[in-house]
Amino acid sequence: MVSAALAARPQLDPPPALAPVPRRTEIALRDVSVAYRCGRGESKTVLSGIDLEIAAGEFVVVLGETGCGKSTLLRLILGEELPTGGSVQVDGKPVTRIDSRCGYVPQKYSLFPDRTLMGNVMYGPENARSGLLGRWRPSFWRYRRELRTEARDYLGRMGLRPQDLAKYPHQLSGGMQQRVAIAQALLMHPPVLLMDEAFSALDPSTRSRLQEQIHAVWFESRPTILFVTHNTQEALLLGTRFILLGRYSDESRRNSNILLDMENPLARLPFARRAQSPELHRIQEQVRQIAFAASMGVSEDPVEFASPESPSQ
Ligand SMILES: Nc1ncnc2c1ncn2[C@@H]1O[C@H](COP(=O)(O)OP(=O)(O)O)[C@@H](O)[C@H]1O
Ligand SMILES: [Mg+2]
Repeated sequence: MVSAALAARPQLDPPPALAPVPRRTEIALRDVSVAYRCGRGESKTVLSGIDLEIAAGEFVVVLGETGCGKSTLLRLILGEELPTGGSVQVDGKPVTRIDSRCGYVPQKYSLFPDRTLMGNVMYGPENARSGLLGRWRPSFWRYRRELRTEARDYLGRMGLRPQDLAKYPHQLSGGMQQRVAIAQALLMHPPVLLMDEAFSALDPSTRSRLQEQIHAVWFESRPTILFVTHNTQEALLLGTRFILLGRYSDESRRNSNILLDMENPLARLPFARRAQSPELHRIQEQVRQIAFAASMGVSEDPVEFASPESPSQ
C-alpha cells in the first residue's frame, strides 16, 4: 500500500543548488590611520593604511606586540577614539561616537568601588532600560528580576560563586574583577563584542575555563567578536580568523599595519578537540614563522595548512 503510494508520487526535479548566502559586513575600516601628537608640533603615527572588513558572526583574534596599536584599533571600532584619516563603519554606519552595538571589555577594566559585584554587572542594562520605561513601572521591576537571574547565570559561567555576588571590588582579586567586567559586557548582548586582553589576569585553569565559555557564548548567539591576545595558542583555540598587527622591520615603515590575515584552520574542529589536536603546535609554529617573515616583508606565498578532518561543532 505504502509502496504503491510512493510509486504513484510524481517525480520531482532535484532542488536547485543553493547559492552561498553573502555575509553582512559588520565592521569595515578603510585606509585608517591614527597619529598622536607628542609635543613640540611632532606627531607619532601608530596605525596607517589599515583596511579591514569583518563579517557578522566572525570571531577575529588580534595578535601583536605590545605598543603596536591593538587597543587603539578596538577603541576606533568602539567609537571612543576617531581616526586621523580614513573611515570606520559598524553595521554600515560611520562610527562617530561610542556605538551601542559594541560591548567592550577594556584592557584596564574599572568597576564602581561603591557597588557590589552584582550591582556593577546590573548597572549598564538597568540604566539602559530605566531610561525607556521609568523605574516606577511594574514592567521595569519584572525586567530587573529576569536580569538578575541572567546576571547570576553569566557570573556563574565566569566561575564566580553566589557568595561572591555581594562583595565589593576591593574584596575581589584582579582576576575576579576581570571576570565581572566580561559578565557585564555579555549581559548587554551586544552584536559586536570587543575584548582587549580580557583573560590576561587569569590563572591557567580559569583561563581555559573562560576560553570554553566565551566560545560557547559565541557559538550560541554568534556575535561578532574581536579579541586581542598575546597568546597564539589562545588565538588558535578561539578564533575563526586571526590577524597579526605589527611593524615591518624596514626602518622606513615604523607604523603598524596588518602583517597577516588568515582563516584559522583549527576552527573546523569541534572546540573540545582543538587543544588536543596534533595540528595545534605545528600550526602555532608555522604562524610564528610566517609572522616573522611577514614582518621582514618577505612572505607573499599563500599559506597551506593541512586541513583538519572534521567540521566545526
Ligand atoms: N592617547 C594617546 N596619546 C599618545 N600616544 C598614545 C595614546 N594612546 C596610545 N598611544 C601610543 O600608541 C601606541 C599603541 O598603543 P596601544 O594601542 O595601546 O598598543 P597595544 O594595545 O598594541 O599595546 C603606543 O606606542 C602608545 O604609547
Ligand atoms: Mg593594549
